[in-house]
Amino acid sequence: MFRLSACTLATLWISAAFISPRVVAQHAADDVAPLKANHALEVPANYREWVFLSAGLGMSYGPNAAPADAPQPFTNVYVNPSSYRAFMQTGRWPDRTQFVLEIRGSATEGSINRGGKYQTAVRAVEMNVKDSRLPGGWGFYNFGSGAGPSEPLPQSASCYSCHATNTAVEHTFVQFYPSLMEVARRLGTVRSDYREKVD
Ligand code: HEC
Repeated sequence: MFRLSACTLATLWISAAFISPRVVAQHAADDVAPLKANHALEVPANYREWVFLSAGLGMSYGPNAAPADAPQPFTNVYVNPSSYRAFMQTGRWPDRTQFVLEIRGSATEGSINRGGKYQTAVRAVEMNVKDSRLPGGWGFYNFGSGAGPSEPLPQSASCYSCHATNTAVEHTFVQFYPSLMEVARRLGTVRSDYREKVD
């Protein structure tokens, strides 16, 4: 009869310990907002407890970018925690990852502050969602200043094409989230067509 020696058991146990984080990483995220009928979403109530990736200040990249002398908004980016942990291990986003882009006003004069800029009220919230149930696997949502529910924007919306062509990892702007970009470079998941500088 085949008997498992203590040594074999130990090997199995060690292998399982090494393999399991990767298996976990491939599981669909379950700490996200549920997709409703017609793939509608509400802004996740607790997104400010998610992982903060980075903040842009007055970034201007689209045709609708504000003029240079307009007040510069902050753009705060959050991702659900289990997908963040998976990315740290694999450099890729698991299915059902959700990103929140929180757009806030900025101010200089307030309280004791006289220089630089700090954040003020939320102006709008947008989301980018990786979900195999969506056409093309990705969905973009614009909630404006409300909380939804909102259906994904149509595939013709500029969100889809800009995020499909200019992003460093999958359809996400990891090049602007410095600690994640380091991980993607180390694990070799930066897109081969990614360009450091686009004229
Ligand atoms: C011309 C290019 C462009 C277009 C169009 C665009 N985005 Fe983005 N998006 C960016 C850039 C650059 C960032 C990087 C972060 C920042 O702005 O702070 C970003 C970041 C995001 C993020 C954070 C997660 C990620 O994917 O990196 C979300 C969510 C997002 N955009 C949603 C939208 C939605 C919704 C639309 C359409 C209404 C849209 N975007 C249109 C360029 C674009």
